[in-house]
Amino acid sequence: MDDGALLEAARDVLASNDVGGWTKPASHQYPHQWNWDSALIAIGLSWFDPDRAQAEVRSLLRGQWSDGMVPHIIYAPRSAGYFPPAEFWQTQGNRAVPAGVRTSGITQPPILATAVRAIHQRAPDAGFLREVYPSLLAWHRWLFRERDPAGEGLACIVHPWESGMDNSVCWVGVLAAMDPIDVPPYRRGDTIHVGPDQRPTDTEYDRYVYLADLLRKAEYDQTTVLASSPFLVEDVLFNAILQRANEDLRALAAELGEPTEEVEGWLVRTKDAFRRKLWDEDRGLFLDYDVRSRRSIQENSVGTFAPLYAGLAGESEARRLVGEHLLNPAEYAPEGGSRYFVPTASKESPHWDGRRYWRGPVWVNGNWLVIRGLQRYGYPELAAQIRSQTLELVATAGFREHFDPGNGEGCGASNFSWSAALVIDLLMSPG
Ligand code: GLC
Repeated sequence: MDDGALLEAARDVLASNDVGGWTKPASHQYPHQWNWDSALIAIGLSWFDPDRAQAEVRSLLRGQWSDGMVPHIIYAPRSAGYFPPAEFWQTQGNRAVPAGVRTSGITQPPILATAVRAIHQRAPDAGFLREVYPSLLAWHRWLFRERDPAGEGLACIVHPWESGMDNSVCWVGVLAAMDPIDVPPYRRGDTIHVGPDQRPTDTEYDRYVYLADLLRKAEYDQTTVLASSPFLVEDVLFNAILQRANEDLRALAAELGEPTEEVEGWLVRTKDAFRRKLWDEDRGLFLDYDVRSRRSIQENSVGTFAPLYAGLAGESEARRLVGEHLLNPAEYAPEGGSRYFVPTASKESPHWDGRRYWRGPVWVNGNWLVIRGLQRYGYPELAAQIRSQTLELVATAGFREHFDPGNGEGCGASNFSWSAALVIDLLMSPG
């Protein structure tokens, strides 16, 4: 398939998942609106339909709570069969929840400010910026106020679903250390359209439900949650995405003539915290930090490269990430039985599984973050190689949710929206 045909096909995927003002991630598997999905989708839409991209942002912000939190799911009014359903979260009645909208009670990686800047760069619209800027600022303020009360510069996540990488190798130890009691009865819906061998296990699901139950029992009071949640993590990927979003927020503020000091403060503190707390000099990796057990999580996942995308690595750290890890065939580089960059976890991880969701498969958003990071740090050839592999995977296997790095076979949902949106971005902006 040539680039022109691929672009058309990608636009078709977004059109077919368009529900009118917002886009579902995939037609059967994910029938609602997801937070970081919509932001990535808006980046794709910004290239050919900025008005529609603006609508995607507005529709996500409909779900913003009055305290600033932007939920990870905004439920479609009529759509049954997804677990957890809207009622599961018991958010109705919570004073912060907007009237007439049904949402989850947790958040997701904050890419939205980055998407808004992308839209504005392609189709400058001061009115739109003025409209959404306060909401973006309110969300970032919520993250620093409620999830980083000590002012370290790192926002905590309180559930694996907040990371966006639900069953990442990073959570295996944290979840195994938990003793879920009184898990409410539930029935999974995620293994109806996708094989169970490509999804999280039941043991993991018990823990997801247990943790969500604790959050709803705490009525989403973040002070209670931070004091008691058995899952409390400073995640590299989440915070790198936040840092990049803060760079974008600062640019938007400057353009609007709004003060930038607060955002500057976050940028400085986060940068310092990445070096001080998340960088492991012995291993040459950025590692997540388990706040509950006060220990680094020694798992090596694709998130370790996200600091490149956010400008958070020094030159020598970047060299080590690329030279010792990304290009290492035992970890992330293709070799023999593994043909494609960039698996979601190091192939050396004991929890590696090349077909199981975030445990090993290649994801288009992971590759996109790595490509943009390599371009930022002066590795144009490697970026171009990973870009062309990403396009090849999609052109061959379709716009699947993720891909087996061994043979390039598509896994998970079909016609997956962010795979299409980011292919558009890679085609329109090669680097
Ligand atoms: C899964 C993914 C998450 C994504 C959602 C919708 O829960 O882990 O990252 O946002 O599906 O695509």
